[in-house]
Amino acid sequence: MMVDTKLKRTKIVDIDASLIGRHLFLQGWIRTSRSQKGVVFIELNDGSTIKNIQLLSNQEKTLLTGTSIAVTGKLVASPSPKQPYELQVETLEVIGEADSTFPLQKKGHTLDFLREIAHLRPRTNTFGAVARVRSRIAFAVHEFFQQRKFFYVQTPVITSSDCEGAGELFELVTETKNFFGKKAFLTCSGQLNGECFATALGEIYTFGPTFRAENSHTSRHLAEFWMIEPEMAFYDLKQNMDLAESFVKHLVKTALDTCQEDLSFFEERYEKGLKQRLEVVLNRPFERITYTEAIELLLKSNIEFQYPVKWGNDLQSEHERYIAETVVGGPVILYNYPKTLKPFYMKANEDGKTVACMDVLVPKIGEIIGGSQREDSLDKLEKGILSHGLNPSDYDWYLDLRRYGSVPHSGFGLGFERAVQFITGIENIRDIIAFPRAAGLCEF
Ligand code: 4AD
Repeated sequence: MMVDTKLKRTKIVDIDASLIGRHLFLQGWIRTSRSQKGVVFIELNDGSTIKNIQLLSNQEKTLLTGTSIAVTGKLVASPSPKQPYELQVETLEVIGEADSTFPLQKKGHTLDFLREIAHLRPRTNTFGAVARVRSRIAFAVHEFFQQRKFFYVQTPVITSSDCEGAGELFELVTETKNFFGKKAFLTCSGQLNGECFATALGEIYTFGPTFRAENSHTSRHLAEFWMIEPEMAFYDLKQNMDLAESFVKHLVKTALDTCQEDLSFFEERYEKGLKQRLEVVLNRPFERITYTEAIELLLKSNIEFQYPVKWGNDLQSEHERYIAETVVGGPVILYNYPKTLKPFYMKANEDGKTVACMDVLVPKIGEIIGGSQREDSLDKLEKGILSHGLNPSDYDWYLDLRRYGSVPHSGFGLGFERAVQFITGIENIRDIIAFPRAAGLCEF
């Protein structure tokens, strides 16, 4: 039967008890369908919310999970305690059928299996919820910086310089040989380009995809991930840490304020106590500990870590998690790491051994933010480039920022997927991004 489209479509998220008695027009996909005594009970989902609406229909044809339909009907109070209301269908039109080969006919697939059907997994509760939370948090990123009058700068995806100096870049190969006249790569960070704008506009942020050819098969690494990188002129390390703390809190608060239903689902399915964990983040200052103090805490723990703890060694995930989970029990900012562990652009501290950098670590994940005050002395920056085995002439443009009107400035990078992982409690970062790219994984 054709649907009367004179009615405006209502999204399921906008239905509440105040609409009982009204005629509605809905469109969506069937999640489940069963018949009982001549009545067909359909659970309809349209993606606008995790909630389905129950439809009561006298449809004769069996409609399978995955079928898309349009219906009109009257919203009535439901006699069942399971839901406050349901729709008595008057007209039902099948838009696109799904047959028994639809891979989501059965419920209860593992996340590993769903990763193999990344094109269909958005139709599950878990991936619908992740996508909605991710979208809301992305909006909150802009909200946070725009409220503070930062400018959004879109830095390039293709670059000729290695920001982190770690040699983990994907090199571009083009059919036209030497297309750019020099080697070109996918960027691993927009920071250096961001600094050009911070030293002109004052306070800016970037929010875009970044790429790292790290061969890490962990639940926290992707080859393509999104990063938010604010960069601020006239900020020292302390102001940088304060901003990072407010930023993380803003994202967590947004999730608690505006993603309640999806968070309840994650709490029920993936992590008991999730909301409580997030509330704690809001209500406590982030502890701040120097790298040197962290090494002392790790040595005092008497735990046999897999990687040895020694001043000068980098902290591994097991160390970061011990500090965040056991010592602090919440987010913590570690700062002033040995200069040998960090990229060339970080500001040297007066002790000659450490740099003015900071990492924000959180329980369950470890590092979600890395940042620093930048070296603003031309002389020291040139020396830093050399001591990292890099060629100052490759960074001549970057050195110009110190030649002309140099100012103290700072910034950081938040890994967007790691932040959403932290907020949703989903264990594997590959389930946070729509189409994960990682070593050995590039589907669709
Ligand atoms: O600490 P990182 O390497 O810092 C930078 O790239 C600086 N340029 C940022 C800046 O100061 N503007 O990376 C920043 C964050 C990490 O804390 C982590 O959350 C995330 O980016 N990240 C990754 N996320 C997913 N997969 C990976 N392979 C990641 N590598 C880093």
